[in-house]
Amino acid sequence: MHAVTKTQPIPFLDLSAQYQSLESEWLAAIRETGARGSFILGPHTQAFEKEFADYVGVKHAIAVANGTDSLYLSLRALGIGAGDEVITTPFTFFASAETISMAGATPVFADILPDSFCLDPASVRTKVTAKTRAIMPVHIFGHPSEMGEIMGIAKKHKLSVIEDCAQSFGALHQGKLVGSIGDTGSFSFYPTKVLGCYGDGGMVTTHSDEINEHIRRLRNHGAVKPFVHSEIGTNSRLDEVQAAVLRIKLRHIKGDIGGRQKVAEEYTMRLANSAVKTPPLPNHGTHVFNLYTIRVPQRDAVRQTLTEAQIGTSQCYPQGLHLQDVYKRLDYKPGSLPVCEQACTETLSLPIYPGMPLAHIERVCEVIREAITLTK
Ligand SMILES: Cc1ncc(COP(=O)(O)O)c(C=O)c1O
Repeated sequence: MHAVTKTQPIPFLDLSAQYQSLESEWLAAIRETGARGSFILGPHTQAFEKEFADYVGVKHAIAVANGTDSLYLSLRALGIGAGDEVITTPFTFFASAETISMAGATPVFADILPDSFCLDPASVRTKVTAKTRAIMPVHIFGHPSEMGEIMGIAKKHKLSVIEDCAQSFGALHQGKLVGSIGDTGSFSFYPTKVLGCYGDGGMVTTHSDEINEHIRRLRNHGAVKPFVHSEIGTNSRLDEVQAAVLRIKLRHIKGDIGGRQKVAEEYTMRLANSAVKTPPLPNHGTHVFNLYTIRVPQRDAVRQTLTEAQIGTSQCYPQGLHLQDVYKRLDYKPGSLPVCEQACTETLSLPIYPGMPLAHIERVCEVIREAITLTK
């Protein structure tokens, strides 16, 4: 069935070309950091926090060890814990819900919109109870959530909003960058992200002086000064060498985001008029395409054909978090969040990274079209 021509493999992600272009700048920063002997929360981290806050358009940015911590510490700083409910999406990476559980609260899953795959505000409204303390929208794949409506629901019910921006650095929503709209914004610098480092890293953004100070304490064992601890915190600090590479990459971010958007445009053009539903552009902002995720009813067969043609893909996400074994105790039944569950059977993420060769984009589209014809 899968008569695809053999050519060179097409990886899901190739970070090596970008690394080569930045290597000398990064190595110079490592040497300079080593000579200074300051490896954690030093001058690069402080400068990066300032540059990041200015870029996102917030008063404060607090660097932490990874994106998971940035969500967990935000929940802690907002005082969310046992007995509280936080409404979020089931169509996301596990960390979004996991951190709600880590804080001692209960994730409450609302359904998603079929096009953007972001939280559906209408479904969120049906999930608000007397225990709800916050909403955690996830700007999934690089597409901003419906923040206008979500902020409206939050205001009406006096809820906090924690934006999960792990996949959406640089995405705009009605002229504001994600991470500057809710009470806090959480970012991941995992290497595959739009702004990624060469290890783990994360950031919390906020306009609030109080949250800023609280997260600075929490990331450093709840210390108010050396050896004086006012609460239980954790060790969640950013390394200087990661801050150094992030500063370099932030200077190139416009080109990187533009590069992703260009690849997306080429895919969308080439997959038009086929059984594939390509990701729509938001009508209220911009999409930064951390992932380019299509919908196709014959998803498994298409993926199989792409794999045989040595083309890397990812299934984001194969199962709604509400149906994960670990959340059995929350008692969601199959069919309870139908839009998410349908998306889990039809979505496929295609290779995307800045500078992906046009010939590779063309080949991916060719193989997809061939796979669809074969399944007819
Ligand atoms: C939506 C989302 N939230 C949170 C995270 C967690 O980030 P990290 O891996 O840096 O802990 C990720 C990482 O993949 C993510 O995609």
